[in-house]
Amino acid sequence: MMTSGLTFRLVVGTYILVFFSLVVGSPISHASEEFENWLTRQTRLSHQYLLNDISPEGTVPGVVIAAPSKHSPDYYYHWIRDSALVMDVIISDYEKAMTPEDQQKYLKMLFDYAEFSRRNQETPTRSGGLGEPKFNVDGSAFNGEWGRPQNDGPALRAIVLTRFAKLLLKQGINTTWVRQRLYDNQIPTHSVIKSDLEYTAYHWRESSYDLWEETRGQHFYTRMVQRRALIDGSELAHQLGDEGASEWYSRQAKLLEVEIDHHWDPNQNQINATIDWDGGNPYKSSGLDVAVILGVLHGSRLDGFFNPEQDQVLMTAFKLQKEFKNLFEVNRNENLGVAIGRYPEDIYDGYSIGVQIGNPWFLATSGYAEYFYRVASQWKQAGEIRVTSINLDLLKSLLKSSPESQQLKAGQVLMSHQALFQQLIGRMQEEADLYLKRVQYHTGADGQLSEQFNRVTGFLQGAPNLGWSYASFITALWERDRFFAEK
Ligand code: NOJ
Ligand code: NOJ
Repeated sequence: MMTSGLTFRLVVGTYILVFFSLVVGSPISHASEEFENWLTRQTRLSHQYLLNDISPEGTVPGVVIAAPSKHSPDYYYHWIRDSALVMDVIISDYEKAMTPEDQQKYLKMLFDYAEFSRRNQETPTRSGGLGEPKFNVDGSAFNGEWGRPQNDGPALRAIVLTRFAKLLLKQGINTTWVRQRLYDNQIPTHSVIKSDLEYTAYHWRESSYDLWEETRGQHFYTRMVQRRALIDGSELAHQLGDEGASEWYSRQAKLLEVEIDHHWDPNQNQINATIDWDGGNPYKSSGLDVAVILGVLHGSRLDGFFNPEQDQVLMTAFKLQKEFKNLFEVNRNENLGVAIGRYPEDIYDGYSIGVQIGNPWFLATSGYAEYFYRVASQWKQAGEIRVTSINLDLLKSLLKSSPESQQLKAGQVLMSHQALFQQLIGRMQEEADLYLKRVQYHTGADGQLSEQFNRVTGFLQGAPNLGWSYASFITALWERDRFFAEK
């Protein structure tokens, strides 16, 4: 708390500076340079902390702990969801590695993770199938009470390992291992990806617990990552000559799409996170949840099915943002992006349930940054923005009260040479930056991110050094780089 207090004051100081340089309006302001420097530093630190969560001493190789904390809260487990999201970052690190030593280091982590994942699949658990949410750090089953199954897990693991398999095949590295351990064309299968795909293809109709481990029913998040796993997996199966399976997986994905469409609620103009509720958390009345935005980030293949820039997703994102703006006291600060939590009715404070009320989360706030960069990139790539009766108000609000905003009309198609198009893209990127500035404001003195930050004081709260918080910061930053690299 002491160090966070100091950071808090330092950061407040920084923002006064930022504010002044914005008002004075110097072309290359000290402030933006400082923000850029912070982004670079925070990316480096986030990597360091994230690596500390991978197979720490006393755990078996391949384990990714959610966070180092062993009590209040106890996050010292290998969660299928968290570990997949962390290892997705490691695949990119492997791709970007500059030295053979680094390459080998990341490659070993990925091999270990794949082998450990296979071991998880072979371990008998209470849920019986592959939807077991977490394992002990010696690889044994966790047999306590828990919300199980969680069927986003096998899908996320398949997505990440499929990405790894495709990469190794392309590089011609360890291809025999890929064909035996990752995807083996056999039924029954002995390989990790095919096991997850078979599980997903046969069980996607069943209800399961959501990514927050609280609510049972049908979830947009779970279904989006299941769909992506099946399509990515179908491509891999085809590449490896498993044609029948390839077709079967892609057929299941098509059937899933019909169900995913039912999450859109045209009366409320939002995508509902959960439908067909059948147990667990009964107090999520708004239907709004950042899980929808994360579902698009982790699940969209940018193939036109719930793309980030589509009206339904945009509407949901803005609606949810408005809720959090009013809900959290820290959001009274107008110069930063809105601090985002999980869902408005949340009462998990990072330690226990029901004692206090929910807070903003780092992974949700960085997720919003990543989301808006991706929307801006999609617009840039398409070279056009379609103004519709649904997104009109939202685009206007993005332009604030500028006189140009009055020109916007539903039915218009803004083309890339038009000033309004450029303005909208620029504004979207600025909005995205503001979310990262929000993260900056609440980050610990040495770049630490916990799970949450307090809704009133802004201090770090919940599990310290949560791997997923770092992963989501890093991927947001990469999405920002991609936006600027895009012509
Ligand atoms: C721990 C879970 O991981 C978290 O998502 C949940 O909100 C709390 N338990 C309360 O159920
Ligand atoms: C609670 C979160 O709700 C859940 O999504 C996550 O998997 C666990 N914590 C571990 O980080």
